[in-house]
Amino acid sequence: MVVVMSPDATEEDVAAVVARVEAVGGEANVSKGLTRTIIGLVGDIESFHHLNLRTLRGVADVHRISDPYKLVSRQHHPERSTVWVGTGRQVPIGPETFTFIAGPCAVETAGQTLEAAQMAQAAGATLLRGGAFKPRTSPYAFQGLGVQGLEILAGVREATGMPIVTEVVDARDVTVVAEHADMLQVGTRNMANFGLLQAVGEAGKPVLLKRGMTATIEEWLMAAEYIARRGNLDVVLCERGIRTFEPATRNTLDISAVPVVQATSHLPVIVDPSHAAGRKDLVVPLSRAAMGVGADGVIVDVHPDPESALCDGPQALLGTELRELASAVRRLPPVLGRVDA
Ligand code: E4P
Ligand code: PEP
Repeated sequence: MVVVMSPDATEEDVAAVVARVEAVGGEANVSKGLTRTIIGLVGDIESFHHLNLRTLRGVADVHRISDPYKLVSRQHHPERSTVWVGTGRQVPIGPETFTFIAGPCAVETAGQTLEAAQMAQAAGATLLRGGAFKPRTSPYAFQGLGVQGLEILAGVREATGMPIVTEVVDARDVTVVAEHADMLQVGTRNMANFGLLQAVGEAGKPVLLKRGMTATIEEWLMAAEYIARRGNLDVVLCERGIRTFEPATRNTLDISAVPVVQATSHLPVIVDPSHAAGRKDLVVPLSRAAMGVGADGVIVDVHPDPESALCDGPQALLGTELRELASAVRRLPPVLGRVDA
């Protein structure tokens, strides 16, 4: 941490900062310039925070040098992590592989979910997505089948052998979702629901943490830190588009977030082109962009009959389109040195 003194700060002002820092066991290195003095602090950053140094007379600014997150930071864990999903470490998500996750946006019926899962599997997806609890803008829109949807997903896992990732929208449902799912998803609307983050951190299952649509990368990583602080480092980040002024797509896929996150955090990061674009014609190009930029996988919506879908039909691919996506995306891996997961 660096404290920048204002040009008119006195010797006493500088001494007051040094005394406060030393009082909590820190070291203060004073460096006098022609117009300003700066003080470099060494020691426990959290104790410096409590000092409220910005409020002291003569202090112009205080800058943080190290990341505000710890457990998810590469500063503390330089090697990139792989998160394993499913019983017996079935599906890896990490730097060596490119994981293909697909399934219906929402679980509507047992037949529709099984059909979507078979389409996903036929295209090479290894992890099945599907929402039993749906976070909808309108309280009148389809909210998901709830526990019945979880039971359908568990049945489809039984039939296909695919592990399941499904969203939990309420901290009170974490236990029941964790009983049925292999991976818990926290969606864009709940990224900053700190009670939910803490609850999934204690659920004993890997977590797929989507980026809040208005969240900065730092806020997203701080959300991951909430989960990690509860003892769960099996967190996969998912870039799913952010709100911008551009109306051509539902959200704007922030593709640069992938390498930015990978430079600063050891957690795997995947991309959701379906929810980012909101339209299926962009799913292939955005998936290729994801792979090209070094993402650790993609998560894609598929539906046997998108026109009758109860949620997000316009972005859902048909089985044939999903297979085309898989082969279009798969043409890149040899170039990038990854294998299918
Ligand atoms: C998707 O899975 C979400 O539930 C969906 O994108 C919600 O959007 P909407 O309720 O505005 O349709
Ligand atoms: C989803 O994947 O089902 C979903 C609701 O996505 P998001 O939170 O990114 O909108």
